[in-house]
Amino acid sequence: MQDLSDPRGFGYGRATVQAEIGGRTYRLAALDGFEENVGAVYRTLGGRNTGRDPGDWMPMFGVLWPGAVALAERVAAEDVAGLDVLELGCGLGLPAIVAASRRARVVATDNHPHAGAFLAANARHNGVEVSFAELDWRDEDAVLPCPRFDRVIASDLLYSAQLVPLVVGQLARWLAEDGRAWLVDPGRLALPSFEAEARRVGLQVEVDVLDEGERELFGIDISW
Ligand SMILES: C[S@@+](CC[C@H](N)C(=O)[O-])C[C@H]1O[C@@H](n2cnc3c(N)ncnc32)[C@H](O)[C@@H]1O
Repeated sequence: MQDLSDPRGFGYGRATVQAEIGGRTYRLAALDGFEENVGAVYRTLGGRNTGRDPGDWMPMFGVLWPGAVALAERVAAEDVAGLDVLELGCGLGLPAIVAASRRARVVATDNHPHAGAFLAANARHNGVEVSFAELDWRDEDAVLPCPRFDRVIASDLLYSAQLVPLVVGQLARWLAEDGRAWLVDPGRLALPSFEAEARRVGLQVEVDVLDEGERELFGIDISW
């Protein structure tokens, strides 16, 4: 019986990606694309019931999306030393790794069954310690090593309207009273409803357009 938690059995196409952040080069083990690996997932799973929503196996975690690079730059521009930092939907975890290299205590989270393996390898290759926890935003009873975080960071999570209340719920659940959340979004259509939902639960939201060359990205600062 194949161990589905082991990415090696999925025949993913692999790549190494790199990013220059705050004067340092970070190298990450990644997939060679998102669309390119959807077929590998469905060939491996066949029609079997894994106990998870089939959409949860989509290999979005394995790509360094542009928002992650912008978020990592934001992390590198701030003093996060000694802070408790939570990354939601971390994928390859570049922002989490940058925060750890700046001496933050970091918990990186994602619900994809293979994100933890990539995060652990990438933290090791870049010489930092990052804890990983499998966290699904639909799980209302989740427990993490820290009850509340000084910084909650996330990039490119608002790609579907159904995710908006879940992501807002996570911010409300984990952000410390005097904490700050930094999100980056590539202008997904759900961004306006995210702003409205965050304000509805009492969060303060500021959205700025980031200057990231050809790609328009939005930086979202959140506090209570
Ligand atoms: C577009 S990717 C972004 C990955 C990374 N933040 C980046 O910008 O490169 C979205 C991420 O959210 C994760 N995700 C989607 N739904 C989730 C859920 N319900 N709970 C936790 N993570 C989820 C996916 O596994 C994936 O890693």
